[in-house]
Amino acid sequence: MSVFTVWLAGLACMFSTSVLFQILVRPCSNGGVFFCSQSSTKIPSIVSKRYRTAYHFQPPKNWMNDPSGPMYYNDIYHEFYQYNPDGSNSPSLSYNIVWGHSVSTDLVNWIGLEPVLVPDTPSDICGCWTGSATILPGNQPAITYTGLINMEKHQVQNIALPKNRSDPYLREWTKAGNNPVIQPVIPGLNSSQFRDPTTGWIGPDGLWRIAVGADLNGSSTALLYKSEDFLNWNSVEHPLYSSNSFDMWECLDFFAVLSGSNGGLDMSSAIPNGAKHVLKMGMDYSDKYMIGVYDLKRDVFVPDTVIDDYRLWLRIDYGNFYASKSFFDSKQGRRIIWAWSNETDASSDDVAKGWAGIHSIPRTIWLDSDGKRLLQWPVEEIESLRRNEINHQGLELKKGDLFEIKGIDTLQADVEIDFELTSIDDAEPFDPSWLLDAPKQCREADASVHGGIGPFGLVILASDNMEEQTVVHFRVYKSQEKYMILMCTDLRRSSLRPGLYTPAYGGFFEFDLEKERKISLRTLIDRSAVESFGGGGRVCIMARVYPVALVNDDGGPHMFAFNNGSATVRVPQLRAWSMRRAQVSV
Ligand SMILES: *[C@@H]1O[C@H](CO)[C@@H](O)[C@H](O)[C@H]1NC(C)=O
Ligand SMILES: *[C@@H]1O[C@H](CO)[C@@H](O)[C@H](O)[C@H]1NC(C)=O
Ligand SMILES: *[C@@H]1O[C@H](CO)[C@@H](O)[C@H](O)[C@H]1NC(C)=O
Ligand SMILES: *[C@@H]1O[C@H](CO)[C@@H](O)[C@H](O)[C@H]1NC(C)=O
Ligand SMILES: *[C@@H]1O[C@H](CO)[C@@H](O)[C@H](O)[C@H]1NC(C)=O
Repeated sequence: MSVFTVWLAGLACMFSTSVLFQILVRPCSNGGVFFCSQSSTKIPSIVSKRYRTAYHFQPPKNWMNDPSGPMYYNDIYHEFYQYNPDGSNSPSLSYNIVWGHSVSTDLVNWIGLEPVLVPDTPSDICGCWTGSATILPGNQPAITYTGLINMEKHQVQNIALPKNRSDPYLREWTKAGNNPVIQPVIPGLNSSQFRDPTTGWIGPDGLWRIAVGADLNGSSTALLYKSEDFLNWNSVEHPLYSSNSFDMWECLDFFAVLSGSNGGLDMSSAIPNGAKHVLKMGMDYSDKYMIGVYDLKRDVFVPDTVIDDYRLWLRIDYGNFYASKSFFDSKQGRRIIWAWSNETDASSDDVAKGWAGIHSIPRTIWLDSDGKRLLQWPVEEIESLRRNEINHQGLELKKGDLFEIKGIDTLQADVEIDFELTSIDDAEPFDPSWLLDAPKQCREADASVHGGIGPFGLVILASDNMEEQTVVHFRVYKSQEKYMILMCTDLRRSSLRPGLYTPAYGGFFEFDLEKERKISLRTLIDRSAVESFGGGGRVCIMARVYPVALVNDDGGPHMFAFNNGSATVRVPQLRAWSMRRAQVSV
């Protein structure tokens, strides 16, 4: 389709949603926008600047995937990322993935720099894949990364060091002369399933350790390696942890957390007594984690509980969020995590758009005071983008109520809303089998299905006639002694555009409603990105959406708070802001 016809099609949709048109069409039982979808040529092209995010991280163009080696060094945050310099298609087609590089002083505005690692040595000639950064003693940063050495996807581990540590931006990196520093030589190790080395940490013997995800005899294994100088590595006979629940873990992350404190811990320093450890793994397109202890004597990770069925493992995020990587921010004494969120349009759309992939907002991550779950919250720096605050207090949402949130830019917004339950008697019984498939529960008990307590939440990016809408909602269930809360982000009606991946995402969290009656929701809306934090960051859901209403100039998408449960829900506080555009990759 030429640019001209695309423009005409957009115009046709604009007119079709006018009041006049709605009066004419309503008798045919469909509203204005639906008319646009009847003929696919009436859907405006996906090639629109309106879908590009305004404050989520992305390079100026082309394909991006995993965050790699994030670090804070000499007053600068570094964000490296898997980048396809040749275009916006998946790098598996190109075998030429490089490490893109951006720097920031505030985690909000980013300066784009030249790639730091490109495939130009025998140990990474088919791609410089994901890895991590470690700050060694003497303030020496080091990168560990996976090199792809042939078309058979044979993988090895490499090291790179900054060429000139006085360069504040660390623009150039030198690959170690002894690369690859680790080869897949362990018996039973599949050399095409051996990647993504972690940040290093020091054991009681003073030696460095890293873990590498691998498929070892069909089990997912966090292989352990030791080094005195960070350049020469030996494999440890036993793994850090292994499980036969899946064949391969990618993008491992291993870090320490303190219960009851939202401060982060530096893995390069001594870890205080009483700290817990987290092993995070990428599998089955989701980032899962276990909380446990690091047994220093045996040099192994011991989870607090071992659950055989990995579908029940906790997730960092229950939406479109993969290959996350965390780092210790020594400036603010916190741990920060972020991840890749892919496009959910067709890959031909990505080629047409010329860009694909964003990163989530950097999130502070810490351990809940009960030690059972990680909590996450957008880094406070992101609040510097807020403007035009609107504030509502003491709202009451009865069954069927829809309260429109007006006065802010509904395409670029930050919304914080507390839902207070007036009574918890109406909670319906919880069925533990739902834990195996929360998205199914989100589909079956969606926002239009009246419940006891809930559904209540936000409707965002809604078209004038509500045919397009993205819904973020909660439902409260009673389970023996406790309450279980289901949080969903339902994309099934998010766009009239055909060919998109529009699932309902969902996750459960336990909540002590006897003690605390307020369930909070924070949602960051950034054009094609919708990132939500439920129950103070207990369940997080990242999502990508491409509503037609976002492109058509018909008054702009709408935003509402709603309740479709029998029990009235109070909103003691609703605050929302328009979000300014950040300087990303300029
Ligand atoms: C290293 O970087 C500093 C700061 O940018 C610069 O002054 C110096 O000339 C650089 N040294 C080399 C050897 O390039
Ligand atoms: C994996 O299998 C190989 C034989 O293929 C065997 O030598 C090795 O001990 C096995 N490793 C583990 C951890 O089971
Ligand atoms: C190694 O893993 C790849 C990718 O999963 C698989 O196709 C291949 O069959 C595996 N090789 C062996 C020897 O198990
Ligand atoms: C993005 O990921 C989802 C699974 O999470 C997948 O269904 C979809 O095909 C991916 N899209 C692209 C463009 O890779
Ligand atoms: C609330 O329920 C009614 C009736 O099922 C439905 O028409 C409406 O769309 C629901 N509200 C939301 C926000 O889904």
